[in-house]
Amino acid sequence: MPAKSAKRAAHRLPAHIAIVMDGNGRWAQQRHLPRLAGHRRGVDALKSVIQACIVKDIPVLTVFAFSSENWSRPKTEIKGLMNLIRVALRKEFDALHKQGIRLRFLGSRQGLEPGVCAVLDQAECATESNPGLVLNVCFNYGGRWDIVDAASRLAATGQAITESSMQAALSLAPCPDPDLLIRTGDEHRLSNFLLWQCAYSELYFSPLLWPDFDAAALDAALADYAARERRFGRTSAAAVAGPV
Ligand code: IPE
Ligand code: IPE
Ligand code: MG
Repeated sequence: MPAKSAKRAAHRLPAHIAIVMDGNGRWAQQRHLPRLAGHRRGVDALKSVIQACIVKDIPVLTVFAFSSENWSRPKTEIKGLMNLIRVALRKEFDALHKQGIRLRFLGSRQGLEPGVCAVLDQAECATESNPGLVLNVCFNYGGRWDIVDAASRLAATGQAITESSMQAALSLAPCPDPDLLIRTGDEHRLSNFLLWQCAYSELYFSPLLWPDFDAAALDAALADYAARERRFGRTSAAAVAGPV
């Protein structure tokens, strides 16, 4: 086992963390600020979680930034979010690239303005060979879209639809499924995030609003994860080891 994965296993750390970054709007409303101010602070929270993942040698982080259903929000908020991803990426790109982060944007490009698509494509292309943290940003993403898109591409090429061909055709591939799924904002639902890939992820719900989530909050989620027994349908390891 390579040294980094051995260290991760010894500390019972996940190899892949997925996060539904929820609560930006409420964070702003509580402060009588426009919702967009919450989304901006959400970018700062993401920056600190990225750094914490790098320090802990976590290889993959996947975040939900804009869902297929978020198009139902007021036009001004959508415009603000589209602008924010462009501005944040332009501002942070050099630092992310220097740290060897590989950026990927998962989701449909349909409906996105060409200017937004270009920024996402350029960032993906420029960081494609980076050896560090894989940061998957789910943007205009829906789990149902992902499944339909994968199945349609398999059908179009005449490939059999099996669990492994689907796994390989889904947008997250070749990353492994998330070990730990965190959702902030005190909501206990998936909201159409990684429906296939989270079949056996450990779920952790935080009452914190996303802009308030930081390295210490991540540590709490990781401690909770480390204490869990993942059985994948098997009987408990303790029960197997004990008297029958
Ligand atoms: C999550 O925060 C970010 C996006 C969905 C873009 P919200 O904007 O959903 O924040 P709340 O849930 O309204 O507080
Ligand atoms: C999920 O949050 C989507 C993102 C965090 C990008 P929402 O705020 O859109 O989810 P619901 O509407 O509360 O289920
Ligand atoms: Mg929300």
